Amino acid sequence: MRRALPALFAALGLASAATAQPAKTGPAFEETKYGVLPAPKDGKKGPTSVSQYTLINKNNLVLKCIDYGAIITELHVPDKDGKFADVVLGFDKLEGYLGGHPYFGSNAGRCANRIANAKFQLEGKEYKLFANNDPHTLHGGKEGFDKKVWQGKATLTATGPSVTFKRTSPDGEEGYPGALAVEITYTLTDNNELVVDYRATTNKTTICNLAHHSYFNLAGHNAGDIKGHEVQIAAKNYTPADGTLIPTGKIEPVAGTAFDFTKAKTIGSDLEKAGGKPVGFDLNYVLDKGTTKRPELAARVVDPKSGRVLEVLSTEPGLQFYTGNFLDGSNKGKAGVAYKQYNGFCMEPQKFPNSVNTPEWKDKSDVVLKPGDTYKQTTVYQFSVAK
Ligand code: GLA
Repeated sequence: MRRALPALFAALGLASAATAQPAKTGPAFEETKYGVLPAPKDGKKGPTSVSQYTLINKNNLVLKCIDYGAIITELHVPDKDGKFADVVLGFDKLEGYLGGHPYFGSNAGRCANRIANAKFQLEGKEYKLFANNDPHTLHGGKEGFDKKVWQGKATLTATGPSVTFKRTSPDGEEGYPGALAVEITYTLTDNNELVVDYRATTNKTTICNLAHHSYFNLAGHNAGDIKGHEVQIAAKNYTPADGTLIPTGKIEPVAGTAFDFTKAKTIGSDLEKAGGKPVGFDLNYVLDKGTTKRPELAARVVDPKSGRVLEVLSTEPGLQFYTGNFLDGSNKGKAGVAYKQYNGFCMEPQKFPNSVNTPEWKDKSDVVLKPGDTYKQTTVYQFSVAK
């Protein structure tokens, strides 16, 4: 059942990061106009209008997302006192997303993370990609899934309001073989979960590895750094990488390294020791659970001040944990906030980076998708408060 809710959503005061406990309004959804894309230079097609979908669950959590990039633009969740804050980094307007940004709220694809030297071989043929992270390909290439317009449709499901974005990536797009039909579904459940479901099928053998790339700050998108957040990751091993973040192909224990989050510790405690250029956490964990049919616990993050807790569950074998090391204040986000280094973190369940060029990982992390098979991923971002 669809409800027209402009007045109620306005009453929620969603423009500010911290909002008072709103009146009961959910579960519901609404589609509104968000912006207009500039006309393409070839002059063939007119301007495309971009929609925003607002989902509100029975506890009044609010998720906003747009059909440009299927990007999550806002996510309002309560703290231990029931006070709401928008816990994801992003922009107020479409122009922000068009102006260049490090994948805020996006879905990385068709192949998330890095592909070494922007090339791979499949069934004896070499495919060349765009080296947007010179000399490598990152998160899909020059124009990844984050820069495409998707076809959105919202519904009210038994578990909560939901929106599905569909798009077929044409054969040869960004150099990848096969037309890949992709569906991205966000459901904001009445259990305070953001469930991200991915499905994809192809008409030729290709590679597919999708990853959700929201930057979270459990104190609020405008609350400064996340060094005080406590993180626990269900992984005894990780994939060490070279200076350009391409894994060496080895799988090594985290024990005795700064990367050990098997017991909860703050992000700040070993941040300097994590090294890297720029310094910070930006690595793939080999989740102890491996690939699973149902989402299982990958990580738990607590902001002790607000009491907000985020648990990440996924079907995927890997988890890229990234602490916003590249943020440098140049992105002026919502309400004009300049996002600086460590102002947000990403928990990106996925297959291991550069799997297509790492045959020794075939049994653990296979990114090849064949016609007749369906790529499936479910990742759950579960919100609660510390007791
Ligand atoms: C990923 C990568 C990082 C960085 C960000 C985008 O999370 O692991 O190295 O490229 O995306 O800035």
